[in-house]
Amino acid sequence: MLNGLEKMRRTAVYPGSFDPPTNGHCDIIKRSAKLFDCLIVAVAENPAKKSFFSVEERVIMLREIVSEYGNIEVDHFDGLLVDYTENAGAVTIIRGLRALSDFEYEFELALMNRHLNATVDTIFMMTDEHYSFIRSSLVREVARLGGDISDKVPPVVEKYLKERLP
Ligand code: PNS
Repeated sequence: MLNGLEKMRRTAVYPGSFDPPTNGHCDIIKRSAKLFDCLIVAVAENPAKKSFFSVEERVIMLREIVSEYGNIEVDHFDGLLVDYTENAGAVTIIRGLRALSDFEYEFELALMNRHLNATVDTIFMMTDEHYSFIRSSLVREVARLGGDISDKVPPVVEKYLKERLP
């Protein structure tokens, strides 16, 4: 029989804006899902940041992306990530690291989160080298300018981008 702490250790939260989800995100999602019994992909609602896709659209895209996996849930949250993580019954946050340029921001985020709630810790996964240059804002820009993004995002995201962009 698992005790409460053991159960918590088996769940991880992978938070992000996912605006839109990219193949880099998918790589982290799939690899994290192998390490934990349950992975919650949590889309952050940030009213201060104007997003391209609504939270609902991002959740729909992610749900389709993870549909073949039995141990991945997609959810959304507002407020503090550490509060969401604790309420979800987890003690682990997953973040992907692409290049050195990600490090400073991620370091600050992780330290602030630990300062806010020391029971929650952050684990970093190095991105696969194929995806190290992919980020959502670049994907949006390339798509807007008519470039090929088919190998940078899952098909459902490409479909949403094509529908949205002129
Ligand atoms: O994909 P992103 O934009 O790099 O994700 C950033 C995210 C959503 C993980 C971060 O902004 C976040 O945790 N937002 C929730 C609000 C919060 O807890 N802020 C304090 C963390 S320092």
